[in-house]
Amino acid sequence: MSYIKKIHATIDGKEVEVDPGTTILKAAESVGIKIPTLCYLKFMTPEASCRMCMVEIVGMPKLVTACSFPIADGNEILTKSERVIKARRGVLDLMLSNHPNHCFDCAGNGDCEFQSLCYEYGVKKTSYEGEMVKKPIDDSNPYFTYDPNLCILCHRCVNTCEHLVGRSAIGLSKRGFNSKVSAAPFQDQWINNMECEFCGNCIQACPVGALRPKNRSQYRPWEVKRVESTCYNCKKECKRVLLLKDNKILDVVADPDSANKGRLCNKGRFEFYDVQRPGQIAVLEAKDIERAREALKAQLDVE
Ligand code: SF4
Ligand code: SF4
Ligand code: FES
Repeated sequence: MSYIKKIHATIDGKEVEVDPGTTILKAAESVGIKIPTLCYLKFMTPEASCRMCMVEIVGMPKLVTACSFPIADGNEILTKSERVIKARRGVLDLMLSNHPNHCFDCAGNGDCEFQSLCYEYGVKKTSYEGEMVKKPIDDSNPYFTYDPNLCILCHRCVNTCEHLVGRSAIGLSKRGFNSKVSAAPFQDQWINNMECEFCGNCIQACPVGALRPKNRSQYRPWEVKRVESTCYNCKKECKRVLLLKDNKILDVVADPDSANKGRLCNKGRFEFYDVQRPGQIAVLEAKDIERAREALKAQLDVE
């Protein structure tokens, strides 16, 4: 029997019973209500900067961010009221004012949380006028590309690197419309970043096409076959998902629900880039390549 006094509240008319300190977002999840988020990341302290998750607490003058605001006893919460929808549209409109509206040309097309939310909330173009700042793309990293023009400055990559990977290799630099993610502390090019171990966990955290693996231009998410597999490179045996097109591995992503909290190391994520890039096969030992092929074949046979 628990001696903790539970919190009782309603969300969109549904009764919830949760422990004190539970955020509105988590309380809503517990009764199957999904609140949209952009900067929020599971396993981490909420950043609470994008304001996409705003909800209304009846009787409170201001909307609150569901990802960071704890639910209180007797709260009556509305996640889809007119005020809430208007506020979320305003957030998307503002983000779109400094984001190229060229989804067809973008490597993130079809796999972009920002695009999906704009579609869901009917935001097709920005209502703000003015020139957009054109920032140079950083293509210096051998495994991934950073396009600051697509970056919505959500901080998910920075928080992942700092709190999940433990490196603090990147940070936000410059101000206003010139803001972008840079190698920490002040080096501009990713390749010069001595802290970065090229694990690519920041790419997986990115909700748009700003940080993307190099191979991402070769496929669209709906074209690939996803094969679950276990990495054999060390004893941790992390879960990973191979993305295949025409029986070639084009990318590897971590399983976000696995025990490794959706993390992979450089070898776990990018070894297939090296294996398949002509002239770089020697990077891996032959027996590893054999095992990689065997594991893949076994997975495909099971399917
Ligand atoms: S690749 Fe890994 S270490 Fe480098 S910036 Fe991204 S998360 Fe940090
Ligand atoms: S690169 Fe992606 S994850 Fe990082 S701040 Fe920009 S949009 Fe967010
Ligand atoms: S998801 Fe809550 S403020 Fe960004």
